[in-house]
Amino acid sequence: MFGFWLSHLTLPLLGLWSSQPRSDVGDSPSLCLHSKTLERLAECLEEFIVPRGYYDRVSYNAAQPDTLQRTAWSNIISSLLHVDGNCSSIQVPIPLKGFYDVVTFTENTGASFCVFFELTADCHAYRKGWGAMIVPARREAVSRNVHISAPHPGFDVGTPAQAAYIFKATGSKSLLIAGRTRTAFLNPSPCISTPSLSGYYETDPAPNNREPFFDASLVIYDWQQRRGCPSSTCAYIQMHGKGSSTCPLDQIFLSAGLGHSSTSKAWYINSNDRPVKRLRGHLQLALPLWNVSLPPDSSCALTATRNVVGRYINGVNEHSVCHTGAGPSEVSGKFIHVEQDDTSRGAELYMMWAAAVRRTFGTTCVEGMSVDPNTGLCAYSRPRGPAGDPVFDSVMFPGLSRSVRVQWLMWVPLLNDL
Ligand SMILES: *[C@@H]1O[C@H](CO)[C@@H](O)[C@H](O)[C@H]1NC(C)=O
Ligand SMILES: *[C@@H]1O[C@H](CO)[C@@H](O)[C@H](O)[C@H]1NC(C)=O
Repeated sequence: MFGFWLSHLTLPLLGLWSSQPRSDVGDSPSLCLHSKTLERLAECLEEFIVPRGYYDRVSYNAAQPDTLQRTAWSNIISSLLHVDGNCSSIQVPIPLKGFYDVVTFTENTGASFCVFFELTADCHAYRKGWGAMIVPARREAVSRNVHISAPHPGFDVGTPAQAAYIFKATGSKSLLIAGRTRTAFLNPSPCISTPSLSGYYETDPAPNNREPFFDASLVIYDWQQRRGCPSSTCAYIQMHGKGSSTCPLDQIFLSAGLGHSSTSKAWYINSNDRPVKRLRGHLQLALPLWNVSLPPDSSCALTATRNVVGRYINGVNEHSVCHTGAGPSEVSGKFIHVEQDDTSRGAELYMMWAAAVRRTFGTTCVEGMSVDPNTGLCAYSRPRGPAGDPVFDSVMFPGLSRSVRVQWLMWVPLLNDL
C-alpha cells in the first residue's frame, strides 16, 4: 500500500487528491458518486480495491461468487450493455441485492453513465471485490464499439482513471474495472502458473479465469460479437502499466496477445490492417520521440500471450484458456493489450490517448447523428430544438458570432441535402 501512495504522490494530481483525502470517503464507495468527472470517480472507487495480501484460502473462497451469484453477475453485465436512457430500468438480480447496485452518474460535463459497483466495504476494502462496470446511459452517447478495461487497479497505478477518460472521450461502449489488486491473494493462480512464472497470483484476472473479471469480459465480448465487430470500428482494449525498469526502452508496448515466435512476428509485420497496428501508428505519430513498440520491434516480454481474456478473444475455447495459447491464424487484432510507463498514464497525456483511439476506430452513430469534427464523437447534425438555441449554437459553432451562426443554420439543411 505504501508503494501505491508513494506513486500517487508523484503524480501531478496531488492538488486534486489532497482536496479529497481518503478518510472523507469513509467506508462507503457510494460517496465516490460526488466526484465531478468519470475519471475522478474511477480513482475514488480504486481506493476500495482489495489490497495486497488481504486474503487467505478461507477468506478468498468466502469472497468468491457462488454459482447463483456468478450467473447474476453475468446477467447484469448483459443488462448494462442493453441500457438506453434509464439506468434505473436495470433490475439488480436478487443474488446481488444489497451489495451491488446500478446508479446514474452525471458528470460536470453533463454526460450521464450507468455505474454498476459494489456498495459494501470494510476498512476500505470491498467485501466482494468483483469489480465495476460503466456504460453510457443512452445509446446515442455511444460513438464507437470499443470496450475498455483496467484489470490491475491498485497495482498498475493510474490505469482506472486513464481508462475512464479514454472511455468517455472516445464515446466507447463499456468500461470494466477489476475489484481486487492482482496480489490480494498471494497464492499462485490455479489456471496459469509454473514455478518459473512468479507473479501470477490467484486474484490476478489476467492469468485466472475464475476471477469475475473474466466472466464479465466474456459477456461483453459475446454481446458485441452478436452485433458484429468489424476491425474498422471495434476492439477490446486492456490498459496496463509497467514499472520503469521493465522494458525500459519502450514507453508504450502494444500486443495483440501474440508474442515473439516467427509466425507471431510475421502476423504483426504483414500488410493486413489490424486495430492494434493502427493504434500503434497513431500513438507513434503523436509521440515521435517515444518508442511505441509491437513484439517484432522489441524483446519486451509483456506480450500477454497468457492473458486468459486475450486468449478467449483470440479464438481459444472458454474452457481451454488456462492451457492453450492463441494461434496467429485465429488472431484478429481486436484484443489490444497496452503496456505503458508512468508518464504515458499521466493526466497530461489523457487527451493524446483519446485522440489516438478516436483516429484508430471509425464511428457507429445512431440514425440521425453524424461525426462532429470538433469532438470526433457522434452528434445531431441539425438542431433538435428551435434554431438559435444558445447552448446548441455554442457547442456546434464555438467562437462564431450569433449572426454568423444564424447564417450557418440556414445553410446547414441545404448542405446536408447535397
Ligand atoms: C426508469 O425505470 C424505472 C424502473 O423501471 C421506472 O420506475 C421509471 O419511471 C423510469 N424512468 C423514466 C424517466 O422513464
Ligand atoms: C528506443 O529504442 C532504441 C533501441 O531500439 C533505444 O536506443 C532508444 O534509446 C529508445 N528510446 C527511448 C526514448 O527510450
